[in-house]
Amino acid sequence: MRLVSEIATTAVAIAASLLTLVAGSPSAPECQDDAVRFEIKDAPYTNYFYSDCHSASQVVVTSPLPDSNLTVIGPRLLQQVAWPAGNSGLVAFFEPQNGVNGTLAISLTDSPSTGNALDPIYEPSSRGKGDPVVGVSGHLHLNTSARLSVPILCSIRTMRDFTEGPSLLRPEIQDAIKYTESPEGGHVSLSRLWLDNSTTTTLSFAPTASNASVTLEDGDELRFQPGTYTFNASFDYPQLQQLSPREVLSEGAQHLIKDAPEQTQSLSFLSFSDKLTAGAWRFLTYFGRDSMISMLLLGPILSSGPDSAFEAGISALLERINRTDGSAAHEETIGDYATWLNREDGMISTRPRYDYKMIDTDFFLPVVLAEYFIKNPIGRDRACELLKTTPVEDPDNAGLTYGELATLNAEKIMDITSAFASPGGQKKENLIKLKEGEVVGEWRDSGSGLGGGRIPYDVNAAIAPAGLRAIAALAEAGFFPDHPEWSDKAAQYAKVWEDETLSLFEVTVPQEEARALVDAYVEENDFPFASQGENITAPIRFHGLSLDGDDDQPIVRVMNTDDCFRHFLLNTTNEEQLSSFLSQTADNILAPYPLGLTTDVGLLVANPAFGGEPHYAEQFSKSAYHGTVVWSWQLSMMARGLERQLARCHDTSPPGFCGDEKLHGKILQAYNRLWDVIEDNADILSGEVWSWRYDGGKFVPVPLGALTPTESNIRQLWSLTFLAVRRNESLQ
Ligand SMILES: *[C@@H]1O[C@H](CO)[C@@H](O)[C@H](O)[C@H]1NC(C)=O
Ligand SMILES: *[C@@H]1O[C@H](CO)[C@@H](O)[C@H](O)[C@H]1NC(C)=O
Ligand SMILES: *[C@@H]1O[C@H](CO)[C@@H](O)[C@H](O)[C@H]1NC(C)=O
Ligand SMILES: *[C@@H]1O[C@H](CO)[C@@H](O)[C@H](O)[C@H]1NC(C)=O
Ligand SMILES: *[C@@H]1O[C@H](CO)[C@@H](O)[C@H](O)[C@H]1NC(C)=O
Ligand SMILES: *[C@@H]1O[C@H](CO)[C@@H](O)[C@H](O)[C@H]1NC(C)=O
Ligand SMILES: *[C@@H]1O[C@H](CO)[C@@H](O)[C@H](O)[C@H]1NC(C)=O
Ligand SMILES: *[C@@H]1O[C@H](CO)[C@@H](O)[C@H](O)[C@H]1NC(C)=O
Ligand SMILES: *[C@@H]1O[C@H](CO)[C@@H](O)[C@H](O)[C@H]1NC(C)=O
Ligand SMILES: *[C@@H]1O[C@H](CO)[C@@H](O)[C@H](O)[C@H]1NC(C)=O
Repeated sequence: MRLVSEIATTAVAIAASLLTLVAGSPSAPECQDDAVRFEIKDAPYTNYFYSDCHSASQVVVTSPLPDSNLTVIGPRLLQQVAWPAGNSGLVAFFEPQNGVNGTLAISLTDSPSTGNALDPIYEPSSRGKGDPVVGVSGHLHLNTSARLSVPILCSIRTMRDFTEGPSLLRPEIQDAIKYTESPEGGHVSLSRLWLDNSTTTTLSFAPTASNASVTLEDGDELRFQPGTYTFNASFDYPQLQQLSPREVLSEGAQHLIKDAPEQTQSLSFLSFSDKLTAGAWRFLTYFGRDSMISMLLLGPILSSGPDSAFEAGISALLERINRTDGSAAHEETIGDYATWLNREDGMISTRPRYDYKMIDTDFFLPVVLAEYFIKNPIGRDRACELLKTTPVEDPDNAGLTYGELATLNAEKIMDITSAFASPGGQKKENLIKLKEGEVVGEWRDSGSGLGGGRIPYDVNAAIAPAGLRAIAALAEAGFFPDHPEWSDKAAQYAKVWEDETLSLFEVTVPQEEARALVDAYVEENDFPFASQGENITAPIRFHGLSLDGDDDQPIVRVMNTDDCFRHFLLNTTNEEQLSSFLSQTADNILAPYPLGLTTDVGLLVANPAFGGEPHYAEQFSKSAYHGTVVWSWQLSMMARGLERQLARCHDTSPPGFCGDEKLHGKILQAYNRLWDVIEDNADILSGEVWSWRYDGGKFVPVPLGALTPTESNIRQLWSLTFLAVRRNESLQ
């Protein structure tokens, strides 16, 4: 039980602050751009977004549907105030008071005074701390009497530990929640002081009509009568600056604000002046790979120059490089969760933490730098100034410049690629492997995304050589004054990596064996579609997902879309290899699943039909995150990759495949087949990943979240790339 006097004091403080609000109504400093409000329904979730120059919030209301699995989907108000510097938010789970799941529906209703679902909260700093209290306010409707069963006022990561993990609640976090009720009743508030002893998150409720009421019982139990309540959710943490739709787009792409309003708003919502974030709500913070793949695919539509999206993305990467070994960071941990982890390690500190477990991220960095500093005319002029910048995010990087950090990254790449590039070094042992003790290391980062393999195809056959090519180009342009030799050396390494890696991943399944495998795959998994095994008239060829798989499999024999990285990132020059590689990609796009990759809902990122190991079908099922499912950005990278290869036919010395009428025609056909499928699924392309069911003789899209308990992000940065990637009508 809490002391009565403590409740009283806090209540008075709240009453006093309400008074100033009503009396003085201190208004927020004006913003240059209009506030952005939008709403995305994805039953049982409804997402509301609000942002202006002071703060950005996403509110997710979850109300179970009649057919929802009630052990997974409970009524929930999840509010996330998107200060990426804090990656924080809060969540409130409700239960019907009668205890029967499914009998409570919750929803937001528009404010009767403003007509909006969400309105901003802005109060100038109240405690001399300097940071204003910001957040959102709205109206929550409960259709039957309810109790607030679990509130979590914290970091997004703590929320994810609860919703995705084994419902983990930490006493250090939960016990710090203070519950208060106004003396005259009617207004109830929850607040929690962060572990930094400085920031406070607050959630409060008040009824809007006399027949609704909320009461605080036994000190920490909120009970609600049916009705409508205003809620306020706010906190006082240093804010970052969101890039408005106008600011996030290049000059030439401003038309998208009108032509693709929702995607543009989503892009703006995820973009801030000092970082691009990966997804809302679960990944609303820095992720290296996500931001770089997005920057490369969005390329021409992103703003460049000072305070632009491109520079936000690049600075975020350079800021977070590990100065000891030059690694680029995969993910950051900041805010309350960082303080908590530091405490677990015996440190009293709010400093951020970084995760360097990925092996692909290092190589993407020079590719992005070359894209901006060499290919982009505005970026070219900005290079000097940007590379002189000193980092401020990671205290460990004090004293260095962005230029020095970029060099450390390039040194790491030159170092770890040298053995394979050396004379006679072209063997498996010298390829890039997952780090010791890690089961993931590139984009297929779920437990069995690589089929247990340790040496990924995409990293070795495409991303590493692309990194080397970019280092060569940057060195050539004078970017690494201490390493002028890299312009030749990195190009020479790149050539070896381009030409000698592909064959190590090659899988060829003879015709008869391929028929037997695909027939068995369909039969053993009771699939309702035909194997079409009789249509196999030649050996099946593809490049395995990885090497050194489970059960001593030398190659993980799972067909996949990772060819897209090579097509998108490299212009290889071994003509025979290039023709054969393009031919193989085109075949696997033109062949329908289970013979190839294409379904009515898109290219599947993995097809285990020719694996010959029953566990592949299980690992790569249609409910697996990297299984027989479709990823939006993979479609877009494949489309752009094929387009880039086809564009080489207009170069002064076009590669051989351009003159091979049959092969060239097949690649064009695959490009257009892919685009037909993309256009058939136009409505769902902004989703991250989707699965399928087979119905009426065709594949029909199904949200992956309907098949697994893991909720996906309603908006993901790298799922917005179709803003920039379009069908090239001249390629018919
Ligand atoms: C509901 O979800 C739980 C937890 O994931 C699962 O064990 C159960 O089988 C599901 N029930 C139905 C009917 O799908
Ligand atoms: C009711 O919902 C809660 C939380 O949403 C869940 O933990 C519990 O298992 C559900 N009960 C039943 C009987 O489904
Ligand atoms: C509240 O909504 C739920 C779910 O739609 C429904 O089952 C229930 O009957 C509703 N309760 C009342 C009192 O309207
Ligand atoms: C916050 O205050 C508590 C109690 O005084 C102290 O133990 C803790 O170390 C402080 N935390 C930080 C991050 O300063
Ligand atoms: C929310 O804040 C507004 C002022 O921004 C205030 O008028 C209202 O009473 C607050 N409501 C709750 C439930 O705290
Ligand atoms: C509460 O009052 C509102 C109007 O003030 C009315 O529409 C609503 O039905 C009432 N609800 C209950 C549960 O009596
Ligand atoms: C940075 O790299 C060094 C050397 O590999 C490593 O020991 C250290 O743990 C890394 N830092 C972090 C934060 O992972
Ligand atoms: C497979 O063969 C059948 C008849 O043998 C034919 O109808 C069908 O179109 C073929 N499918 C493909 C994808 O070629
Ligand atoms: C379409 O492809 C043609 C041929 O490669 C190329 O010349 C043209 O620039 C491309 N158009 C666009 C909009 O990229
Ligand atoms: C490959 O060449 C095409 C056509 O010249 C070009 O559009 C594309 O950007 C090049 N790709 C790379 C990685 O340089």
